[in-house]
Amino acid sequence: MRYSSAAVLHLLAGQAYALPAPAPQASHVSGPVDPSQVLNLPLSSDASGSLRGSEALLGYNPSNPISTESTVIPPDEFELAPGQSDDRELGFYIDLTNVKNPQPIRGGTTGPTDPGPRTPAYDRLNSDVYVPPSSDMGEVSNAKWPFGLSHNRHGLAGAGWARSQNTDQLPSSVAMAGTNMRLSPHAYRELHWHKQGEWALMLNGSVRLSSINEAGQTFVDDITEGDVWFFPPGIPHSIQAFESGCEFLLVFNDGSFSEENTFLLSELMMRNPESVIAKNFRTSVKTFDNTPKEQLWIFPGTPAPTNISEQNVTGPAGMIPVEGSYSYHWSQQQPAKVPGGSIKILDPATFPIASTFSAALITVEPGAMREMHWHTTSDEWSYFIQGSARLTVYEAPAASRTFDFTAGDVGYVPVPNAHYLENTGNETLIYLEVLQATQYSDISVNQWLGLTPKQIVKDHLKVDDAFLDTLPKEKSFVVPGNPDLMATDFTPAAHGGA
Ligand SMILES: *[C@@H]1O[C@H](CO)[C@@H](O)[C@H](O)[C@H]1NC(C)=O
Ligand SMILES: *[C@@H]1O[C@H](CO)[C@@H](O)[C@H](O)[C@H]1NC(C)=O
Ligand SMILES: *[C@@H]1O[C@H](CO)[C@@H](O)[C@H](O)[C@H]1NC(C)=O
Ligand SMILES: *[C@@H]1O[C@H](CO)[C@@H](O)[C@H](O)[C@H]1NC(C)=O
Repeated sequence: MRYSSAAVLHLLAGQAYALPAPAPQASHVSGPVDPSQVLNLPLSSDASGSLRGSEALLGYNPSNPISTESTVIPPDEFELAPGQSDDRELGFYIDLTNVKNPQPIRGGTTGPTDPGPRTPAYDRLNSDVYVPPSSDMGEVSNAKWPFGLSHNRHGLAGAGWARSQNTDQLPSSVAMAGTNMRLSPHAYRELHWHKQGEWALMLNGSVRLSSINEAGQTFVDDITEGDVWFFPPGIPHSIQAFESGCEFLLVFNDGSFSEENTFLLSELMMRNPESVIAKNFRTSVKTFDNTPKEQLWIFPGTPAPTNISEQNVTGPAGMIPVEGSYSYHWSQQQPAKVPGGSIKILDPATFPIASTFSAALITVEPGAMREMHWHTTSDEWSYFIQGSARLTVYEAPAASRTFDFTAGDVGYVPVPNAHYLENTGNETLIYLEVLQATQYSDISVNQWLGLTPKQIVKDHLKVDDAFLDTLPKEKSFVVPGNPDLMATDFTPAAHGGA
C-alpha cells in the first residue's frame, strides 16, 4: 500500500494548515526552561510549517474533521491464498509467498484487511503470526529469531563475519545461545577460550581445529560439512578455514553467551604489561615488536599445511585420547530413515566430551511432520538449515502460538512445552535440535497414547477402536503427510494404502 503524496501531506500536516499559526504562549509549561524558547526553536530559513501546533488542536472541538475515505481494502485489490477461506478450526498453513497484497483473513473471503503501514515481506514469511490458526491462544514467549536480523560483526580485512543470538534477541533462550560464523579462505577465528562450552556444526566448507587441555594433551583435527566439534568451558582453541572457506554454527550452554565476550590471545597480550609478557615467556620485549596492537578475532591467515601430521604438536602427555576427542565426524553417520523423513542423534553416548549436549539432525519431507512431542529435561534450541516449517508451542495451562521458520532461523521451545514441526514448503526440511541433556530424548504424543490403556484414551477423546488400533507403540519421530497442505485425511486408506 502506497500513500499518495496528498495523503502523505495530510498525514504529516494533519489539519494544522486550516488553523491559525501556532501561538507562542504556553503558560501551563512550568519548570526552569523558558517556555517561549522551547516553543520557538529557530528553524533554518528554507524550512516551512511549524514544529509544534497550537493549543487550539486539543480535543473536544466539534469542528475537527474526520476522514470519510474507506480504509477497507476492496476484494479486487488483494488475493487469498489456498486455505484462507477454509474453516478457521482446521488452521491450515497459509502460503502468502506469491499472493497479491496479502491480507490477514482466515475462515472466509472477507474479514479484517490491513491497509498499513506495513512491510508485506514480514507477513509473507510469518503467515502463522499474521493469520494465526484459531487454536492459537494466550501468551507464549517468542520462539523465533532469524540470524538475518542479528548484527553482523565483520572481522579484519574481509576475513569473515559472525552474528549471534542470545537472550538479548530471544528472551526465553536462557539455556542456550547461538552464533553463525563465516571464515574466508585461510582465515582464523583467533586462539581463544570462554566460560561456556561450545558445540558446533559445520554448515559448509572445512576447517582445521587445534586445542590443548589442562593435562597438556593436544588435539588437532580437520572437520567438514556436517561434522561437529565441542570445546569444554575454558579450553583454548583455534579454528582456521581451508582454501574453500567455511561457515559454521556454534551453540553455547548459556543463553547469555556473547561472541563479543570471549577471551582472546590478542587481548591477553595487550592487557598485560609488556615487561610481564617478556618475563613470562623468558624473552625480550623486542620479541613482540611486530605483534599486532589490535584485537584479531577473525583475521586472515597463511594457508595451513594440508598434511595434518605436520601440525601434530605433542608433549610428554601426548594427544587427547580418542574417547575424549573434541570432534565427531557426524557427516559420516547415516541417518535412521523413517516414513516421512530421517533422524540422526548425537549425544554423550557417542560423543562423551560434550557431556550436556544432545542433538538431533532431522529431515522432514514435504507435507510430513516432526511428530507432536515434548522434551522432559531440557529446553530445545533449534536451527533451520533448509526448507520451511511451522511450529506450534503449547504451554500450560491454556496457551499456544504458531511460528514460521526458514533457513537461517533459530527456534527456541522451553521445557516441557509441546510442539511439532510441519514442513510447509516443497523441499525437504533440514533442521537441528539441540538440548542440554545427557541423552537425546522426548515424549511422543503418538507413543504416549499408543501405550495408554485403550479404555482410558477412549474416555478422554471419545474416539473409536479402529483409530486406537492404529496408535503406534514405537516412536517414529517423523510422521508422513501429504504435500497438499489442505489435506484433512491422513489415514493409510486416503494415501492409497501407503
Ligand atoms: C556451500 O556454499 C556453496 C558456495 O556458495 C553453495 O553453493 C552451497 O549451496 C553451500 N552448501 C550448503 C549446504 O549450504
Ligand atoms: C600425532 O602424534 C602422535 C604421537 O605423538 C601419534 O600417536 C599420532 O598418531 C599423530 N597423529 C597424526 C594425525 O599424525
Ligand atoms: C605427512 O607428514 C608426516 C610428518 O611430517 C610425514 O611422515 C608423512 O609422510 C606426510 N604424509 C604425506 C602424505 O605427505
Ligand atoms: C516451491 O514453493 C515456492 C514458494 O511457494 C514457489 O515459488 C515455487 O514455485 C515452488 N516450486 C515448485 C517446484 O513447486
